[in-house]
Amino acid sequence: VRPLPEQVESLCRTIDAPPRLIAHLTLVHDFAVSLVEEIQSVLPELSFDEKSVFFGAATHDIGKSLFRSELVAPGSGHEFAGERLLLEHGVEARLARFARTHAAWQKDASLTIEDLLVTLADTAWKGKRVADLETLISDRIAAATEKEVWDVYILIDDALQKLTAGADERLAWQAKFPV
Ligand SMILES: [Fe+2]
Repeated sequence: VRPLPEQVESLCRTIDAPPRLIAHLTLVHDFAVSLVEEIQSVLPELSFDEKSVFFGAATHDIGKSLFRSELVAPGSGHEFAGERLLLEHGVEARLARFARTHAAWQKDASLTIEDLLVTLADTAWKGKRVADLETLISDRIAAATEKEVWDVYILIDDALQKLTAGADERLAWQAKFPV
């Protein structure tokens, strides 16, 4: 598993992030890197800011350090709190936003491909497939590359089938870390 970016590791130490959260961020960041590599290999014409996707994946749930119950139960308190926390620690707004947008794909039509890729990584790392989300991303990628939506959907589907293979192992690894 790839380590978190240095800046994020040091922030996690500063805010005393719980081990389960660090493990989760590590896995989603690692998955996002693999996902981006896969997408770039099958859709080389798609241009997006991969670094912000990696940063977003590495920090998306950082607000759960303040809403620790949301590490084990659903809740949305961590979303705005995470964005605020990142801003307070000097992170630029365009990078802090992922803490809020990673859960907003059904209610915010202004999300970018980068936002949606972080959301997809946060969904698919554990083997979960969400057809509406994959369709939305395929629509956006098709519009950006002038490809047919269906062709893009198939490429994304193939990539996810390959990448979700290790999901059970990832879930078991994350569960070993205390909340
Ligand atoms: Fe997450």
